[in-house]
Amino acid sequence: MAKILLVEDDTFLLDVMRNILGEEGFEVVPAANGKQALDLFVAFKPDLIVSDIMMPEMDGFELLEAVRAIPDGVTVPFLFLSARTERTDVTRARGLGVDDYLFKPFDAPELVSAVQARLDRRRVVERFDTRSAHLQTVIMLANVIETRDPYTAGHVERVRKLALNLAFALDWKQEEIAVLEFGSILHDIGKIIVPRQVLKKTGPLSAEEWKLMRQHPEAGARMLEGVDHLRAAIPYVLYHHEWWDGGGYPSSLKGEQIPPEGRLLAIVDAFDAMTSNRPYHKSMTPAAAMEEIHRSRGVYFDPHMADIFLHTYRTDLDVEGPVG
Ligand SMILES: [Fe+2]
Repeated sequence: MAKILLVEDDTFLLDVMRNILGEEGFEVVPAANGKQALDLFVAFKPDLIVSDIMMPEMDGFELLEAVRAIPDGVTVPFLFLSARTERTDVTRARGLGVDDYLFKPFDAPELVSAVQARLDRRRVVERFDTRSAHLQTVIMLANVIETRDPYTAGHVERVRKLALNLAFALDWKQEEIAVLEFGSILHDIGKIIVPRQVLKKTGPLSAEEWKLMRQHPEAGARMLEGVDHLRAAIPYVLYHHEWWDGGGYPSSLKGEQIPPEGRLLAIVDAFDAMTSNRPYHKSMTPAAAMEEIHRSRGVYFDPHMADIFLHTYRTDLDVEGPVG
């Protein structure tokens, strides 16, 4: 339940607003002036403040300024109740960081919708901030892995973009795309178990080294298992080396047994590997890599996803494609 600090020196108006918001299920903490409100703000940590401007003791402007000076109060939504004629007040309040106005006289639905809109907006912003903080951490982590492998510089970022484009073209849902972003960034996180000299090696890998390399999907999945907000990305990490014909690893899954996350990432991961320089090969042109993807549809790759990828890539980047 959202807590609202309601500040108004007119006791009649305070009671009316208190009832309206109380009936909507909000927990309302009333205050008769700014000074009282400031004490209550510290004690109750409200989710939103609705305040009159002209009040004895401490007016609305002073309250707003004082609230914004407290760390907890920097982002709390603040709504002013104001008479329509107070034109200069608007400018002053904006400068102090007010979020919205309610002009007197207002009716019950106006008050409720203004409060609700600010609370909703606040929730969206918080969710976005948390998500982008997670994303930054994850990118940092993936970059640490990349810097151990000089041949994959920029790989994570390119795979992420290619994966996003393909998911959009396949009409994946927004929640799925949100997970895909983490999954595509973290897909090779398990390479942390592979020694640097193996990652750097320019010649062919020994049987022992390949064995180690092939463990990176499972190693990565184990790492993510313990992280609540990243667990959903495990299918990308675990299944991106499975092949459509069952010849991949670690589980030799076949066709639609392979989760779609793995099938999608396999295509974009392979495409980027082919078009960038690696220890074991020089980079191909995008057109040659597209030809290769086309040839491998139904062998390594989900044929439908491969077709959509080729179509989208050609359209987006305006590359002359070899396949029609
Ligand atoms: Fe990989």
